[in-house]
Amino acid sequence: MITTHLEQAKAALLRDDIIAIPTETVYGLAGNAYHEVAVEKIFKLKQRPFYNPLIVHISSAAALAEVAVEVPAQAKILAQAFWPGPLTMVLKKNERIPALVTGGKDTVAVRVPNHPLTLSLLAALDFPLAAPSANPFGSISPTSAAHVDAYFKDDLEVILDGGTCERGLESTIIGFEEDKAILYRLGAIAVEDIEAKIGKLGIKNKSEQAPEAPGMLLKHYSPATDMVLSEDVLGAMQAFERKKIGLLLFQQEVEAGDEVVQEVLSPSGDLAGAAKELYAAMHRLDHLGLEVIIAERFPDVGLGRTINDRLQRAVEK
Ligand code: TXA
Ligand code: MG
Repeated sequence: MITTHLEQAKAALLRDDIIAIPTETVYGLAGNAYHEVAVEKIFKLKQRPFYNPLIVHISSAAALAEVAVEVPAQAKILAQAFWPGPLTMVLKKNERIPALVTGGKDTVAVRVPNHPLTLSLLAALDFPLAAPSANPFGSISPTSAAHVDAYFKDDLEVILDGGTCERGLESTIIGFEEDKAILYRLGAIAVEDIEAKIGKLGIKNKSEQAPEAPGMLLKHYSPATDMVLSEDVLGAMQAFERKKIGLLLFQQEVEAGDEVVQEVLSPSGDLAGAAKELYAAMHRLDHLGLEVIIAERFPDVGLGRTINDRLQRAVEK
């Protein structure tokens, strides 16, 4: 059920049920991070492999000791600069966090989400919330309560409705290896903005056999419809003559027949605006019975890098 009642959300969590919560990035599937029974339900519902760890959400940086030990100096600077907000940090976990949450690793991914409803909920709980994005494994992340409802209608008693997500892209993930800060996932905070605080980052935002952050799996964030990514959308369209085509464009429409569906993400050319619209536009295009979605590659700076990363993973077969 879609609701705005915090009491219902809290009651469900106290029963070790899982609920959907809004955040500024995407909606999450949340449960008590200290209780294995709750965490297991998250993995089951999401059909997520157990090796892929979850992000734990806390109410403020002051609650870090509830999940982590040994916070590096750079992590303190980043927490100060970006929390509440779309920055996740991978830190050494404490003994209260079950291995199930962390995929057996001795580290835990943690963030303070910047959404008033969810911050109020967290403040009312005496446990942190483990929450991956509220989509079945590998599919497009949800940026509205309606998206979550479409995925999990019958399986969630509470979908806490906090409106459309302001950022629209998952959090940026940073880890610390031998005291060097490493980017594990491009996200809603641009690399440039993090480097302005702590200097150059190491970059590991790629696919690996045993991925550092399995959000980095090569194929991810994918619509069911075939999708291609191109600098030259008109050129790419030629390969799909007489097919039902949808276009996912940055700033402006291209000249094409009326039968071609066009989604323009930001007419003003604003990358943050485009990020906010990206997944909703992908969800819409994916429900039109198209034969192909052609996405335009973004300028590779700031949030454009994150958008290109998501589009690239969405087109992988
Ligand atoms: O914006 C977000 O981060 C959203 C909202 C709900 O907070 N959550 C989200 O969760 O995107 P999810 O599960 O879709 O992605 C979590 C990512 C995965 O790529 C996972 O591998 C990585 O975090 N991760 C979690 N724990 C980790 C750890 N200990 N070390 C490295 N990566 C970790
Ligand atoms: Mg996800």
